[in-house]
Amino acid sequence: MTDRIRDYLRARRDLGLDEGPVMVLDLDVVRDNFSKFARALPDTRVFYAVKANPAPEVLRLLAELGSCFDTASVAEMEMVLATGATAERISYGNTIKKRRDIVRALRLGVRLFAVDCEVEADKILAATAEAGVETADVQVFCRILCDGAGADWPLSRKFGCEPEMAVNVLEHAHRLGLQAYGVSFHVGSQQANTEAWDGALASASEIFRECALRGIGLSMVNLGGGFPTKYLKQVPGVETYGDSIFRALTKHFGNRIPETIIEPGRGMVGNAGVIEAEVVLVSKKSEAEDEVRWVYLDIGKFGGLAETMDESIRYAIRTDHDEDRMAPCVVAGPTCDSVDVLYEKNPYPLPVSLSIGDKVLIEGTGAYTTTYSAVAFNGFPPLEQIVI
Ligand SMILES: Cc1ncc(COP(=O)(O)O)c(C=O)c1O
Repeated sequence: MTDRIRDYLRARRDLGLDEGPVMVLDLDVVRDNFSKFARALPDTRVFYAVKANPAPEVLRLLAELGSCFDTASVAEMEMVLATGATAERISYGNTIKKRRDIVRALRLGVRLFAVDCEVEADKILAATAEAGVETADVQVFCRILCDGAGADWPLSRKFGCEPEMAVNVLEHAHRLGLQAYGVSFHVGSQQANTEAWDGALASASEIFRECALRGIGLSMVNLGGGFPTKYLKQVPGVETYGDSIFRALTKHFGNRIPETIIEPGRGMVGNAGVIEAEVVLVSKKSEAEDEVRWVYLDIGKFGGLAETMDESIRYAIRTDHDEDRMAPCVVAGPTCDSVDVLYEKNPYPLPVSLSIGDKVLIEGTGAYTTTYSAVAFNGFPPLEQIVI
């Protein structure tokens, strides 16, 4: 929580504008995070994962700082291009793309694409013909599976293929006349294990070797995202991740370290944002003394806190009564949907004096909040965002 955010929220309350939940994001924190990434991984290009927070102010700042961008859709590419950044700074990192979207991306000037199977490479080839783009100008990298162990938000088996298959996918792309450019992986989001990149880099180096034997020279490893932000638990600093990644690169690639890129999302913007929300109701389910209280906020899973699903992400919730005695509570959102409960399996300690109308601050909410709240489920408006 920065002084700038605190001052902004105070002024908003004084003006009586604090009607609904709001996420306030401080661009100074994003600037600071960008330079920490640049220092921790000095020879690595940063492709900010736009999905984490596509606010135009965030994209403009990162474009000015020299960042590149990992995009999941044509709409995200257009947001990046609107900042004035050129298409060479964009990667189409989604492994699941419609052919017509690949055509659009090519027409916008994007030349860097993720794949995880041969048919996706076929789609790209067909799209180059339709867009009138030289096949050899298009670079593809193949994503490999990662188990996401150690991550609070693992990305499962949905993306990537086994390393042995990646060799065939890259060879296939090469035979189609595309540039087989490299390998990517994602070690799982909010990855607490700084060594998590080691295993994936071992696989990547094997793929480089096998491709070389087949006459294909790969040159790039995309190290993905996964760099954590601070929620309730302490996390290692990005420099620790940088050291560990550099060690793993040297271990597996020796003195032939490839070109590298990272795609931080959460680690770039997570700690820049704070949500201010309000207590709508505090109640119990019976009159028994030891019954836990239910604290209902005016924000829940459908209002931006989707990552509380399975209680995966445990946010720091601050109140003006944090000096008082704490007792475990079930924390829930305001909608008439019973899955809209944030913390129940592991009840959340909140002050016993917390009452209806009190404000709460939910820290570390700059990433994966506003975009999850893009529809007005139950008539509650999407989460408002103010960038300062
Ligand atoms: C391809 C890709 N890159 C990067 C990211 C960002 O990951 P993180 O927020 O953990 O840094 C994601 C997240 O889903 C992703 O899918």
